[in-house]
Amino acid sequence: MTLAEVVPFPRVPQPDGSAAVLCGLGTWLPPRVVPNAEISRRLDTSDDWIRARTGIRQRHVVEPGMCTSDLAVEAGMRALKSADTDHVDAVVLATTTPDRPCPATAPDVAHRIGLDRVAAFDVNAVCTGFLYGMASGAGLIAAGVAERVLVIGADTFSTITDPDCRATAAIFGDGAGAVVLRAGSPHELGALGPFDLGSDGADADLIMVPAGGSRRRTPASDAERYFTMAGKAVFRKAIFQMAGSAQSVLRKAGLRLRDVDKFVIHQANARILNGVADMLGQPAGKFVRNIEQVGNTAAASVPLAMSSACESGELRAGQQVLLGAFGGGLTWGSTVLRWPAIEIL
Ligand code: UT7
Repeated sequence: MTLAEVVPFPRVPQPDGSAAVLCGLGTWLPPRVVPNAEISRRLDTSDDWIRARTGIRQRHVVEPGMCTSDLAVEAGMRALKSADTDHVDAVVLATTTPDRPCPATAPDVAHRIGLDRVAAFDVNAVCTGFLYGMASGAGLIAAGVAERVLVIGADTFSTITDPDCRATAAIFGDGAGAVVLRAGSPHELGALGPFDLGSDGADADLIMVPAGGSRRRTPASDAERYFTMAGKAVFRKAIFQMAGSAQSVLRKAGLRLRDVDKFVIHQANARILNGVADMLGQPAGKFVRNIEQVGNTAAASVPLAMSSACESGELRAGQQVLLGAFGGGLTWGSTVLRWPAIEIL
């Protein structure tokens, strides 16, 4: 099934200085690599099953004692260096695995990067977190609250994955990616276009950690402390919502599907990437893929995919790019930009 070609709206002019321009990108992966074979030694699964059903060969995982802020600090510092700056006015950290339930992890990350006294807050939109984080950063710039914002997506899902659950243990990996957004002109390379963001709380239970919040503070069993996912239902919704959100953002941006050179969307499952490509009637080759190497890294997924596509030469300055994601909440989001000429660290 394919969706109809997007009929664009005329683009709404934005005043210079109010657009958020992506001017730096940095990533960090914990050094420990867990290949499928290591999971299949422990659980009733196989390298063949994981590769065929998800496209994943390996993932990076934190060592005990390493937490989300450690990854976020590394990626954040690299993004600042890539943007050739040591100052931003705000730090937005997208994560579902904060160091502690309270306070937010972003102020600690900002402090450790040397960004004392700047605005800093967490965003939890699960795997859509980086898109929500970028929209928040772009909003701070458009409102004149900040001139530069560091947006970080960092997650350590290995810390909330049930070690006995073969479906989730096979999919998730840890990692972090960050961008610097600066105030600029909507006509520059790197200027973020409109955003499409959405949610559907009616399906909140499809992806969740049942206990640990105000609804159920104390887990009734060990399993309730862990991340759960209704894989099949989520699979179908991920394809439908990411394809729909891509269509919506293109319409808002005054672009057509054929104008997009590269789709950099959440790396949840290689079959989901193929499903979105089919639904949009676009060649699978337009969809950037790094899931084989890193698995599903939640809020870090989109910046890690941008980075690996730049490294491989797949993503080049001037190309029209669509960024998209889908995750728990349920949540989804997309934006567009022409890829800037930046050094990736
Ligand atoms: O990141 C945010 C959103 N997350 C996603 O988008 C993930 C969406 N879901 C998925 O990627 C897939 O649903 C999974 C990878 C989680 C599961 O793949 P599936 O092809 O949808 O498998 P399934 O859940 O339909 O299960 C088919 C069979 C079941 O066995 P039975 O009941 O048919 O006997 C599962 O128990 O595969 C079994 N299974 C496994 N077998 C070997 C599930 N996980 C595994 C495994 N190894 N790791």
